[in-house]
Parts: sequence; structure tokens; C-alpha cells
Amino acid sequence: MSARQRPVVAIDGPAGAGKSTLAAFLAVRFGLLNLETGAMYRAFALKALEQEIPLDNADALEALTAGTTIVLEPNPKEIRNRVLLDGRDVTARLRDSDVAEAASRVSVHPAVRAWMVSRQRGMGAAGGVVMEGRDIGTHVFPDADVKIFLDAAPDVRGQRRFLQNPGVERSAAAAAAEVRDRDERDRSRAASPLVPAADAVHLDTTAMSLEEVCAAAERLVVEKTGFAPVR
Ligand code: DC
Repeated sequence: MSARQRPVVAIDGPAGAGKSTLAAFLAVRFGLLNLETGAMYRAFALKALEQEIPLDNADALEALTAGTTIVLEPNPKEIRNRVLLDGRDVTARLRDSDVAEAASRVSVHPAVRAWMVSRQRGMGAAGGVVMEGRDIGTHVFPDADVKIFLDAAPDVRGQRRFLQNPGVERSAAAAAAEVRDRDERDRSRAASPLVPAADAVHLDTTAMSLEEVCAAAERLVVEKTGFAPVR
């Protein structure tokens, strides 16, 4: 393990691969904090939408970071973090599809990414975290103790997203289209595109049950860190 006393577990992968569910499971099993970096991009995107800042205006978005605070409050009983944007609880609003799309669009800007990465490094510096996102194993914690790249076939991910967000997604087809568009942007952007770290372990969950995915990831954490599950 690295110089940290407690491990950093990085989970990266495209939308709908099951990262949040797996991160929440590992956090409980190993007594770690579960930090969802996508929620930070979503909260920032929400602020840009509310202030009517064009999502392609890099300078205005960079200026917006200066007066912004985003706090993730992990709750061991919930999959999702509670998210405070400038002190306001915006958790429920972050699942809406306009915010998801805007998050993907603001995340292409290097200055926005640099601001996020520096905060995320601070949050995980002491270790004891499962951090999930798109660039955790490649940029935020290239020295993470465990790196998992979680993937699944696009239509399976669309379907999971649809089932995960009842009442938010209009239809399975709309959810699949949204996931596809977001993926395309996340994978093709110039700054920290979604790519697996060279030393990440790939888990293709297309044909795996949730239990199988959790068991495989748990074995990996034990193997890489020597930590035993606490629960
Ligand atoms: O994980 P999520 O669906 O909540 O992420 C929303 C968007 O934020 C995603 O489409 C791309 C961006 N993102 C990112 O660029 N880097 C991260 N570490 C996490 C999310």
C-alpha cells in the first residue's frame, strides 16, 4: 500500500455501469467514506444552469468556481451522497436529466476539472475512501491502492439508469439515448477523457448480477490492500 494509513479505492467507468451502487457496498463492507465525484460536477452544473451561464463559456465557468463550495456528505445508509451547493441541499435536483447533461458539458473544461481534482485530492488525502467517477484512477489518485474500471454494454446501462431513476427518466429508450450521448462526450473530450487506467482491473458487468459484481470487487480490495471486511 501507499504511504497512506488507509486505502483509496478508485472506481471509474461510464454512466449506468453501477459505480455508485458498488461504491456504496464497498464503503459499508470496509468502513470507508463513499465520495461520488459525479455529484460535484452535477452540483456545479446546476449552479451554472441557475445563473444562466452558457455551458461552453470556459472563462465564465472558471470564474464561477471561485465563489463556489460543494460539500459531499456520505451517508452509510444511502447509496447517494447528500450534496450541499453553497450550503444548500441540492441532492434531489441532481438526478434530473438536464443536470446530468449539463454536468457532462461543464466537465470538458480543463479549468473546471482542475478545480474539482484539487478538491477531490483534499477529500481523499488521508485515505479511507472509495471515490467514484471518470478520472479517479488516471488523474485524481493515480496511486490509488485499488483501481476498478466498471463497464457494461450500452443498452444494459441505459436500462439500469432507467430503473434507477423512476419518475425522472421518461422511457428506457430516452435513458439509453442520454447515456450514449453522455458517454460519447465523456470519452472523447480532450481533458482527462474517460479511459481506463493502465493498471485498472476491468469488470464488465453486462452479464453479472449485482451480488457477483460486489463479490468480485470485494475480493479485489482484500487482495490489493490486505484489509478484511469490517461488516
Ligand atoms: O457519475 P455521474 O453520472 O454523476 O457524472 C456526471 C458527469 O460528470 C459525467 O457525465 C461526466 C462528469 N464527471 C467527470 O467528468 N469526472 C468525474 N470524475 C465524474 C463525473
